[in-house]
Amino acid sequence: MARRKKIYEGKAKILYEGPEPGTFVQYFKDDATAFNAQKKDVIEGKGVLNNRLSEFFMQGLTNIGVPNHFIRRINMREQLIRQVEIIPLEVIVRNFAAGSLSKRLGMEEGTALPRPIVEYSYKNDALGDPMVSEEYVVAFGWANQQDLDDIVSLALRVNDFLSGVFYAVGIKLVDFKIEVGRIWDGDFMRLIVADEISPDSCRLWDVKSGRKLDKDVFRRDLGDLADAYSEVARRLGVLPAQTTHLTKPTLIN
Ligand SMILES: Nc1ncnc2c1ncn2[C@@H]1O[C@H](COP(=O)(O)OP(=O)(O)O)[C@@H](O)[C@H]1O
Ligand SMILES: [Mg+2]
Repeated sequence: MARRKKIYEGKAKILYEGPEPGTFVQYFKDDATAFNAQKKDVIEGKGVLNNRLSEFFMQGLTNIGVPNHFIRRINMREQLIRQVEIIPLEVIVRNFAAGSLSKRLGMEEGTALPRPIVEYSYKNDALGDPMVSEEYVVAFGWANQQDLDDIVSLALRVNDFLSGVFYAVGIKLVDFKIEVGRIWDGDFMRLIVADEISPDSCRLWDVKSGRKLDKDVFRRDLGDLADAYSEVARRLGVLPAQTTHLTKPTLIN
């Protein structure tokens, strides 16, 4: 069997050439990184959980008409996706203060924001993904004003969807980031949600206890990351109720 072509290896995932033009296979690794990869570890089972959770959220978005790159899951660690031209931005939506916003403004983590706030970081590891304004995005040609309007609208639809899905299982969506990419239908360009939606890219707090169920568990050494992600998957019905992540997570269907 011919070896497939690796397109890109990032910190958490690998992209391979897909079976048809315009598709990629996205492979989820167990690697965890934080603080721009200064902190690293291998968390057994994380890739399997994120593959399944990202499928769950992207499929949900498809069901409510929010365009995204997900086509289908292939196996425990891989999914087939539409190839896009990634806009080099992390599009961040915040509902409650946390992380860099809390630091920047001296605001206590968990403070409710007056409305969802959308912000952008320039995706560049060497620079540590610096925050940029819309002015920068347009001036440097990463996206134009119309694209930005579409990006904000996508981001807020994703926010409403995710906030509701998480709230229904007792989890508060504090903030999250998405990536957006361009696809072409002939001469027409559309922006769709790409990359992943998982506890790696969201801040998730248990509504009652405030327990963190996201990558902050790893960033801040708060316990077992795969335990936290398994808890999220279990509540969403993605893992059977009695399963622990130890050795290999068992997937439903
Ligand atoms: N549908 C897609 N088409 C093309 N590139 C994508 C798509 N979805 C995600 N990507 C890119 O693939 C990479 C995923 O690997 P990841 O480990 O997250 O990388 P990074 O370390 O750059 O964040 C990212 O660079 C992301 O921008
Ligand atoms: Mg990434």
